[in-house]
Amino acid sequence: MTDSLTDLLASRVSGQSLERPFYTDPEIFQRDLETIWYREWLFALPASQLTKTGAYARLQIGAYNVVLVRGADSVIRAFHNSCRHRGSVICQKAEGTVAKLTCPYHQWTYDLDGRLIWARDMGPDFDPSKYNLKPVHLRELAGLIYICLADEAPDFDAFANLARPYLEVHDLHRSKVAHQSSIIEKGNWKLVWENNRECYHCAGTHPALSRSFPLDPAVAGVSADGSTPPRLQAHFDKCEAAGAPSKFAMSGYAGQYRLARMPLEEKALSYTMDLKPACSRPLGRVTVRDAGTLLKFHYPSTWNHFLPDISLTFRVLPIGPQETQVTTWWLVDKDAVEGVDYDMKRLTEVWTATNDEDRRIVEDNQLGINSPAYVPGPYSPIMEDGVEQFVDWYVKTMLRNMAGPRAVAAE
Ligand code: FES
Ligand SMILES: [Fe+2]
Repeated sequence: MTDSLTDLLASRVSGQSLERPFYTDPEIFQRDLETIWYREWLFALPASQLTKTGAYARLQIGAYNVVLVRGADSVIRAFHNSCRHRGSVICQKAEGTVAKLTCPYHQWTYDLDGRLIWARDMGPDFDPSKYNLKPVHLRELAGLIYICLADEAPDFDAFANLARPYLEVHDLHRSKVAHQSSIIEKGNWKLVWENNRECYHCAGTHPALSRSFPLDPAVAGVSADGSTPPRLQAHFDKCEAAGAPSKFAMSGYAGQYRLARMPLEEKALSYTMDLKPACSRPLGRVTVRDAGTLLKFHYPSTWNHFLPDISLTFRVLPIGPQETQVTTWWLVDKDAVEGVDYDMKRLTEVWTATNDEDRRIVEDNQLGINSPAYVPGPYSPIMEDGVEQFVDWYVKTMLRNMAGPRAVAAE
């Protein structure tokens, strides 16, 4: 298929930011949804958010409303949150706990596994088994729940097999959500990612984070030539010798995901103002105290930090051409006690501040791009190769997915 978006994507000049419509145009936003968000695997939430039977959480992804719920068999499932009678939304709140899923309109009632178990006055020929909730593809990976809205989900195993050993040592099945925040950034989802993939802005923007997170572009981004500096290699070797997979790994189509356990600034053991651990009871089995942070990103929906003491998961969801939701989970060991093992303010203050600082600069970035005077500008080859990598992934993935059904076997 050739259309104006194909031409615009194909004419993208590498090494610089995208043309204005990619950040502003409602039609391109819609194409982003259809081409990427409705087709790729998306991080939904940490499994530990839904601890009890009947605990549910809703997600809005473009026009889709999805509910994730833990069943009586302890399995988490995802369904379209749309009643099979006349389509009403079933779960009305963002999250909660229910015994059954009951539609508020005419009380059709579904079991937690999606089966329709009660529908009043539907006549003798009604077959309830034809009206179970429509499922959404779901995979659990070491305590992280991913979903996919496509009819046929693309391969998940290549990513899962690469990531599992890195993640398993963090024991997310032992985690609890100590704190969760959702913020709205008035910026296109790609601007949120571009900002995430560089630390060119960090020194001027993030006084709290800069205490612990290195400004070295080899940590925040990707070395342009794919090489590993000796200091990083020594860090990888030390952590791996202690049983924590660490070395830089990037894979997937056009580098859709990456894992690497990166050192923090010298003396920094966690993302705290005093650089000491945020939680005295570790989450996971990483015994190297200064193992730093296992950085994981997986386009288009998540970046993560896994440390010896805590884990942080972030989820990006597009809301509109100039609006994006960023949700952050602070995970600690389930036996950690607030006020004893961790202090909520110490645990959350660095990333609460960092998220807000990033929100502000993303919004300023969007405002400037909205001006007709905006033209794409050059990326720093030293500090912004991660941004180039993200934009390259976006352009290539759009072109591939727009070209037709995914040829899984050919990848
Ligand atoms: S729309 Fe759900 S019971 Fe009627
Ligand atoms: Fe930032």
